Amino acid sequence: MQFIDPALEAYAKDRTKPEPDLLIELTAETYASMKWPGMLCGRLEGRLLKLLVQLIGARRVLELGMFTGYSALSMAEGMPADGELITCDIDPQAKAFAERYFARSPHGGKITIRLGPALATLKTLSAPFDLVFIDADKENYLAYWHAAIALVRPGGLVVIDNTLWSGKVLDPRDDETRAIDAVNRAIAADPQVENVLLPIRDGVHVARKRA
Ligand SMILES: C[S@@+](CC[C@H](N)C(=O)[O-])C[C@H]1O[C@@H](n2cnc3c(N)ncnc32)[C@H](O)[C@@H]1O
Repeated sequence: MQFIDPALEAYAKDRTKPEPDLLIELTAETYASMKWPGMLCGRLEGRLLKLLVQLIGARRVLELGMFTGYSALSMAEGMPADGELITCDIDPQAKAFAERYFARSPHGGKITIRLGPALATLKTLSAPFDLVFIDADKENYLAYWHAAIALVRPGGLVVIDNTLWSGKVLDPRDDETRAIDAVNRAIAADPQVENVLLPIRDGVHVARKRA
């Protein structure tokens, strides 16, 4: 589903700072070689993630759902040289792909990949993180939210992708959509956070843990 006029989306994209050439190359290879290339968040959301990281001065970031590394590299770009970004994925093919690009990026040294189910990896991590970006399997979104809000520092952000789920949240009929709707409701009702569900791309839910 296209949420806004495609011409307006293109206008917004064209008037947003471009991503580095390496991310353009990563995108092209993802579309040429991966089964679900549309999972990659792209320029508008990638630049938004970098901006959020910069706005809060994030030094420690956690990502659930790395894929070919576009969002991880976008966030790493906004972090200081000694920043640490831990990213999780279950797919060895995605890991091998992303590693090649991380090795070529001046920001790749900030990134550590944890291969395996994100729920298992989460159990091994300690607070505090400045920002947690959730973009893995949708059925576990509520569990990821609870883990993320516990790991993030007061004043930090939890950012969740695909929270409009192509408009299916208006009438949740399957497990994935019900899980996304449940997390959107849980965040809106949570007194620990300020939040806004941004209708950017497929929906980006941003929650700030109260300081
Ligand atoms: C939407 S893609 C991530 C896109 C990426 N954030 C970007 O913008 O380029 C979701 C990723 O989550 C991974 N994934 C699915 N289930 C997972 C799980 N249980 N634990 C960790 N990663 C998982 C998939 O392998 C896939 O690469």
